[in-house]
Amino acid sequence: MKRIVQPELLDTLPVHDPRAVASREDLKRINTLMGHVNLMVTHAAASCCQARRVADLGAGDGSFMRRVAERLCRRWKSVEVMLVDRQSDVSQATRAEFCGFSWNAQSVAADAFDWLGGPASMGADAVFANLFLHHFEDRKLSELLRLVALRARFFIACEPRRAQRALFASRLLGLIGCNPVTRHDAVVSVRAGFTGRELSALWPSGDGWELREEAAGLFSHLFVARKTD
Ligand SMILES: C[S@@+](CC[C@H](N)C(=O)[O-])C[C@H]1O[C@@H](n2cnc3c(N)ncnc32)[C@H](O)[C@@H]1O
Repeated sequence: MKRIVQPELLDTLPVHDPRAVASREDLKRINTLMGHVNLMVTHAAASCCQARRVADLGAGDGSFMRRVAERLCRRWKSVEVMLVDRQSDVSQATRAEFCGFSWNAQSVAADAFDWLGGPASMGADAVFANLFLHHFEDRKLSELLRLVALRARFFIACEPRRAQRALFASRLLGLIGCNPVTRHDAVVSVRAGFTGRELSALWPSGDGWELREEAAGLFSHLFVARKTD
């Protein structure tokens, strides 16, 4: 399948539109089905001993990172986490839950490119991205990865796998009650997803990074970059 990037409905709807709110709820179930929390926690714990400043790019309502924090907080203590999203909507309740894990969460309403290029991202030693990279064409993506590599010493992304099985499953999401926005975006996301070593090819060249890229679970594509020095 050729990679095709098309606009997603969730990105165009106002953050409090009931269809967007319902779609963000659907995303929680989809993340559970895809096992992305588990993938991120397992690889972050194995590859990166302790991060102090963590960023989640395209964090949405912060609930995905909250679930990651709940599991990682036993290893990574007193973390400052920046939840970066153009349409930031992190509730007080979610921020309080982070506090319960001794993580301090900040909601950052910004474009990820602007944020990564600015001073606020300095010292973000671990960067996470869940269902985010597939939004961008290769040229933009290589710019994003270049900015991440300048800042972080650890980067992990879980994305849709661009494969027939994932495409087939994305068309069945109505069966688990997903709304039309989610059903549309899921198909678009798989077509814009990744396969092979496509993300490694876009990572800035140069020594000092260990890259891992592979199919994960039934429908996902995992990319991990770790600074070796
Ligand atoms: C599919 S959602 C994933 C949300 C969250 N990571 C999760 O797994 O639940 C993608 C998110 O990326 C955000 N987004 C898209 N383009 C962005 C950009 N250029 N900068 C920051 N956020 C962006 C959207 O607002 C949306 O919340």
